[in-house]
Amino acid sequence: MAAGSGDEAGDAGGASWRLIGPASELSEKRCRLMYSPLGHDADVCLFYVKGEFFAMDARCAHSGGPLCEGDIEEADGVLQVFCPWHDYNFDLRTGKSGTTLEQQVYEVKLEDGNVYVKHAGHLSLKPFPADQKT
Ligand code: FES
Repeated sequence: MAAGSGDEAGDAGGASWRLIGPASELSEKRCRLMYSPLGHDADVCLFYVKGEFFAMDARCAHSGGPLCEGDIEEADGVLQVFCPWHDYNFDLRTGKSGTTLEQQVYEVKLEDGNVYVKHAGHLSLKPFPADQKT
């Protein structure tokens, strides 16, 4: 898996394991957008590629492009998402790119058939009401 196992409680920077949903459903799509109550800039992508889940900030570090809509390619064993706006690539595991830009990535774990993402805030597969006001 893309993530660690073991520690149940969140510790790093106040992050906690957030239950996202059943792996059987989440693996049906290559990418799901997980909404943050903090607004669009804090949304997170949940990718499912080659049998693994990866979580990464959804807005590209360059100019905010929607990474969920990007192409995914593997080069030299490295899975990368290519931003649909200017084609910058980011390593799904590390968030690093061929540039100085870097995406924030988050740990993912599977437990009892459910996907969890370690994140400081709540994440939801549906938009939060606050998002709909703007
Ligand atoms: S916004 Fe993603 S590469 Fe420019």
